[in-house]
Amino acid sequence: MNYYRDRSLFIQKKPATIQRQSEINDEIRSLYLSGAPLFTKEQIYAVRRQFKELEGKQGKVLVTSLNGRVTEFVVKTGDVLSSDTGIECIIGEPCLFYRSIQELTSITERSLFTPAIASCSFHIYQTSSYRNKLTKEVDNSEQSRPYYNKNIVQDSFNTTLNEWEKSKQCEDLLQVLQSTDLSNIKQIVAFACGSMKLDLGRERLARRSMHQHGLLLTIRKALKEKQSFGNSHEISAWVQDPAYCAIDTSILMESRISPLDNPDGFLKVDDSTMVLSFAPDAPIKQIITDISRPAAMIWNRVTEDEFFGGILRSDPDSSRVREMISQYYEMVEFPFDEELFSNVALYVRRREAV
Ligand SMILES: C[S@@+](CC[C@H](N)C(=O)[O-])C[C@H]1O[C@@H](n2cnc3c(N)ncnc32)[C@H](O)[C@@H]1O
Repeated sequence: MNYYRDRSLFIQKKPATIQRQSEINDEIRSLYLSGAPLFTKEQIYAVRRQFKELEGKQGKVLVTSLNGRVTEFVVKTGDVLSSDTGIECIIGEPCLFYRSIQELTSITERSLFTPAIASCSFHIYQTSSYRNKLTKEVDNSEQSRPYYNKNIVQDSFNTTLNEWEKSKQCEDLLQVLQSTDLSNIKQIVAFACGSMKLDLGRERLARRSMHQHGLLLTIRKALKEKQSFGNSHEISAWVQDPAYCAIDTSILMESRISPLDNPDGFLKVDDSTMVLSFAPDAPIKQIITDISRPAAMIWNRVTEDEFFGGILRSDPDSSRVREMISQYYEMVEFPFDEELFSNVALYVRRREAV
């Protein structure tokens, strides 16, 4: 997926603007410490409603910042950006991006400064696509690649599922699920499981994605079987990842997993939800912490370590995430394989925390 950002929001960083940025950072830090949420379902609904009203059209999306200021993002759907290369870029629909507390309280753009949006935890980007300047033919190179083929991906997913279901790890996971009280879970919402599409060079990523979706299917089946006595109900399974292509969507739907557009997955999450998330490129933990108290989560282990190799993690823990985990959740060791799932753990909400 390619994205376009309105560069007019950025200005060159000079001493006066650095000073301004650091004032904004301080203001955000103190609002955050006083308990102000970075993310709310109301805000997500408000942005989503504006996206729907604008569909295919140009206009503005208004976002309320943490300090109450309303910020305007200009939406240029349909605009064409020319270049010297024979290719032009067409600006597509707006989409929502999220900024962690760490990004909001530090100078993140190397040489540019964004005073207009510096206190927004929600940023609006736009999707973009490319076409030949002369023929106006859209660049569909992905679809024309030999590996972009549903049957090949489906076969590989079936084989991987088989392998996963027979693995010691899956057996160990089932034992953990058996011995843990998960009776209040009615649905699973999984974020960032990635695309399963097979393409040269992304075999490892596709394999991880297939295992992560396989784990979702295993959990759904186990939860359903556990509650088969008494009033059993279907456990619904939802997934959100902007990287899904048509092949992913079709395979997932055939497995009765429903793909949701960003940000609808967040709106689904409630206190009867199990949230899954594996190495996302978005601050999923900070968003979930602000908007709900899910029944359980399997996500990257919560640590004090917000950086990796000196670089801020894309889903960094925060004081608020750590506080939620220590107050409301029990950590259950999850028999994971780091190569397939990253360093994850199962967190189950304590009974008394309801
Ligand atoms: C580093 S990849 C990890 C993919 C896979 N989970 C893995 O472990 O290999 C990060 C993923 O986060 C997804 N992502 C980014 N923003 C997201 C959002 N708002 N909601 C859900 N997924 C998102 C990306 O599309 C991408 O698939």
